[in-house]
Amino acid sequence: MSICIVTGASGLIGAESVRHFARLGLTVVGIDNDMRRYFFGDGASTAWSRRQLEQEVPGYVHHGIDIRDEAGIGALFAEYGSDIGLIIHCASQPSHDWAAREPMTDFSVNATGTLVLLEATRKHCPDAVFVFTSTNKVYGDTPNRLPLVELERRYEVAEDHPYHAHGIDESMSIDQSKHSLFGASKVAADVLVQEYGRYFGMKTAVFRGGCLTGPGHSGAELHGFLSYLMQCAMTGNHYTVYGYRGKQVRDNIHCHDLVTCFEHVWRAPRVGEVYNIGGSRHANCSMLEAIEMCERITGRTMNWSYNETNRAGDHIWWISDVRKFQAHYPGWRYEYDLEQTLVQIHDELVRRARTA
Ligand SMILES: NC(=O)c1ccc[n+]([C@@H]2O[C@H](COP(=O)([O-])OP(=O)(O)OC[C@H]3O[C@@H](n4cnc5c(N)ncnc54)[C@H](O)[C@@H]3O)[C@@H](O)[C@H]2O)c1
Repeated sequence: MSICIVTGASGLIGAESVRHFARLGLTVVGIDNDMRRYFFGDGASTAWSRRQLEQEVPGYVHHGIDIRDEAGIGALFAEYGSDIGLIIHCASQPSHDWAAREPMTDFSVNATGTLVLLEATRKHCPDAVFVFTSTNKVYGDTPNRLPLVELERRYEVAEDHPYHAHGIDESMSIDQSKHSLFGASKVAADVLVQEYGRYFGMKTAVFRGGCLTGPGHSGAELHGFLSYLMQCAMTGNHYTVYGYRGKQVRDNIHCHDLVTCFEHVWRAPRVGEVYNIGGSRHANCSMLEAIEMCERITGRTMNWSYNETNRAGDHIWWISDVRKFQAHYPGWRYEYDLEQTLVQIHDELVRRARTA
């Protein structure tokens, strides 16, 4: 079982996964059709990342198949069969704003595409570990109903609330809230992945991510918040902050730290698990705090303005409680804090600009 299949292989999490599992000695087969370019325009294309992987990762094989293409995915899984030991499913339409433009496309990529992959796994390699990158948007806007306190630079949950110390855990309901169409299509996928574990006994794991970030993001206004913010800080391009006076809080996990979670699951898989994952109390910031950090790192004043209207379904305060994952996998640790992550994003953007 030496084959690892990564979908969304040229994207932020996919590419990190390709490199990581290739270094561990697996033969990695990537699937990515650069649909990110269709979603967000030429500037968000991940073609550069595909080229890098093909040049740098020994034995890497790339397929530009659409994950919705049942015949194409079926043929690929049939080719490798039970040699497939790990599937990391990262391909998606990842923006809640974009989803409202083309709900059918969003649902077909996020929900149907996931089902196509689960079925291919069940048919050709049912013993493989299946890791899915879900999102904290499956909780919809329920977190906005928490008792939140407005501080000078950020929102916080009230100090006497059980979520204050460690963040939001997996017991929060995903039902009866406003998710955005993206959140809804991810709920469908998230529940399907759980079900292939619980119903069929497959080794599936769902990671409900906060903000996933790192130098490999092809940041766009609608997705890849820290990467896009840093791009604007460096170029002087204008950035718009939507709603909540810029005090909305997100937690941010470096893609390397997320991919090491995948490694722990692969080495000691469980069945049908769900984990909240993100920067937790270890790495989080409000929009205002993120702008300050980018200004400090670049030494430039950012060109930004404020729009009163918040993004539909946006969280006012999100911090992931990652203790369930830590309890199941006590060997896992964060390696990056927010400052290190932002500096890396900055340095990579400088490098890309030089070689463009
Ligand atoms: N980045 C975040 O902040 C964040 C937060 C929570 C959850 N997630 C989830 O994590 C996963 C990975 O996110 P990311 O930031 O690496 O995204 P990304 O957009 O950088 O990468 C996704 C890749 O999937 C590819 N893709 C899209 N549709 C496809 C299709 N139909 N067939 C084949 N390939 C397709 C895209 O071209 C892109 O390269 C996604 O499922 C996303 O919803 C991301």
